[in-house]
Amino acid sequence: MRNLFVCLLSLLGLVLYSQTTVSTFGPIQLSAQLSSNQQFQYSVRYKNKTIVFPSSIGFQLYKPALRLNRFRITGIDSAVSNSSWKPVWGEQDEINDHHKEIRFHLVSTDASAIRLDLIFRLFEDGIGFRYAFPDQPALKHFIVQQELTAIKLRKDHTAFWIPGDFDTNEFLYNKTALSKVDAFAAAAKEKDIAVTAPAGKQVVQTPLMLKSADGIYINIHEAALLNYPVMQLQINQQDFSLHTVLVPDAVGHAAYLQTPFQTPWRTITVSDDARNMLASKMILNLNEPSVIKETDWIKPQKFIGMWWEMHVGKANWPMRAGKHGANTENVKRYIDFAATHQFNAVLVEGWNEGWEDWFGNWKENVFDFVTPYPDYNIKWLSDYAKEKNVRLIMHHETSGAVTNYERRLDTAYRFMKQHNINTVKTGYVGKIIPRGEHHDGQWMINHYNRVAATTAQYQLMLAAHESARPTGLHRTYPNWLANEAARGTEFNNAPTQGIPPEHQTILPFTRLMGGPMDYTPGLFHFNLNQFEPDRKQRVLSTLAKQLALYITIYSPLQMAADLPENYEKHLDAFQFIKDVPVDWSETKILEAEPGDYIIIARREKGKNNWFLGAITDEKARSFELTFNFLPAGKKYMATIYKDGQDADYEKNPASYTIEKREVSASTVLPITMARGGGCAISIMEVK
Ligand code: NOJ
Ligand code: CA
Repeated sequence: MRNLFVCLLSLLGLVLYSQTTVSTFGPIQLSAQLSSNQQFQYSVRYKNKTIVFPSSIGFQLYKPALRLNRFRITGIDSAVSNSSWKPVWGEQDEINDHHKEIRFHLVSTDASAIRLDLIFRLFEDGIGFRYAFPDQPALKHFIVQQELTAIKLRKDHTAFWIPGDFDTNEFLYNKTALSKVDAFAAAAKEKDIAVTAPAGKQVVQTPLMLKSADGIYINIHEAALLNYPVMQLQINQQDFSLHTVLVPDAVGHAAYLQTPFQTPWRTITVSDDARNMLASKMILNLNEPSVIKETDWIKPQKFIGMWWEMHVGKANWPMRAGKHGANTENVKRYIDFAATHQFNAVLVEGWNEGWEDWFGNWKENVFDFVTPYPDYNIKWLSDYAKEKNVRLIMHHETSGAVTNYERRLDTAYRFMKQHNINTVKTGYVGKIIPRGEHHDGQWMINHYNRVAATTAQYQLMLAAHESARPTGLHRTYPNWLANEAARGTEFNNAPTQGIPPEHQTILPFTRLMGGPMDYTPGLFHFNLNQFEPDRKQRVLSTLAKQLALYITIYSPLQMAADLPENYEKHLDAFQFIKDVPVDWSETKILEAEPGDYIIIARREKGKNNWFLGAITDEKARSFELTFNFLPAGKKYMATIYKDGQDADYEKNPASYTIEKREVSASTVLPITMARGGGCAISIMEVK
């Protein structure tokens, strides 16, 4: 009798749920249904325009070997949630999380009868969805071969993309129609990077930025990437559908899992106003709250470093190569400079034994992370730094030997604590040894996240280089201040293409959608042949633009990347870098267009001072800045750091002028940015 009842109920369920479910939240509309061949399909509309045509979901499992893509819907739950939370640091004091969640309970219609939930969250500015495998007798341990998520776009949009690659994201962005994406050709062009492109020449990385011909901006990425590989996207250039490519492990499988398990969220941020892309907090909202309860020790920071010296050939990392940069005397000079100009910290690279043998040798035990070179007196320097109220930043280059690093984590972090060091920059240059895992595979994702958790235990802050790109996990681990995970300042020095001016106008729409970047702005010397006369490389930016990057590239960890002696030649412009905060109460995106220009104003955390950054690509541009972001009735003194009249990123990058004037909410200020230029303004309250 009971069985009959259950049977009737599920029959009823089948009838009920074979209809289309439509759910609306603000401008976003989700529709979902089972197709005639039992595939679950979802589609998305924004202000009544199709963003995603009916697209299917599912998995190819390796173990048990089955395709999980035909389902029955056994239930649908839905709930609206509206709450606010305060980030430990960030672009604004408080973040609102208003969304509607719809959870589809699915059962696979094959003999396995595996249960799988699909959870959607609708926000005003987009939609996220994730898979959840409940704990169940039918599925305990399993291996994912591929995720079968599709995102079928309406048309051939313009795309800002970097080629698919399992090990690096340090590419220049391409701007083409989706139908013209040729990731192999693009990767081949980038001779500076060892490329391990996935098969299929239309695979691109996320965040993928799209713009439709009718002016809709669409950004596709993921949130809360935990215990799972990075998602890249293969484009079907016939119907403009995107298909998940998970980064495989060393033997070709994607993820080793056990139930219960939830995948990261697949995110689609949507707006008809480009500024809303940069203002969106959807990805952060899709991450879990901080797991760190007491957070007083986590501090946004500005730092200088024993770093660019090596990149421009003034000094070396290895001691035995001569010109050793990280010697006691030289680092003391950096500490003094940091103290004089009130920087929080000094990064020191090349301080430890191992650099003679670090690159390309595939050796596991190159570094032990606790043995300084004999000419680097870490005890004396850390005492001296403490006296000067400056911190040293630790550098842990792993040279890809990640098992070695993991074995030594605790010892290395205790060594940092002994020397009053509270921040570590990690690095993963080269192939991951010994097993040849990919930088973006599940194994390494677990490593990066384990380092975030372990540093948190030791109350240490973290910035990772050569890691996977972020997915908003800095909400969960606020000690994880930043990542590199894109092409940053060091590439000004790359022998081939450097960093063309449009790059920084694309970064906020792509890489930064997932979280802060350790971009390391602030170069004041543009011809990189200062120490090696044969170098042809140049910094393709004006000086004023370098200042504006402190505002347009958000990070709670900002470096002043150039050499102290180069700053000493321009102390008037350096004042902006000294003044600019790294933590904010409010952010206003004033103007933005990917690949063209960005103008942002931010209010200093807990204060009334504002800072504005404007940047352009290779075109000179003029804007009228209206200061109505300021509260009415208050007076401010603005210091305007702008391109000189003859400034030009190719011909005259160091030409700038500085002007002071009183401003208020009613001020309208015309600005002109040179080719490859920018403008930075500090706006201090007059009391
Ligand atoms: C690459 C990093 O991005 C860079 O900052 C660092 O100096 C070198 N690796 C050496 O670790
Ligand atoms: Ca790098």
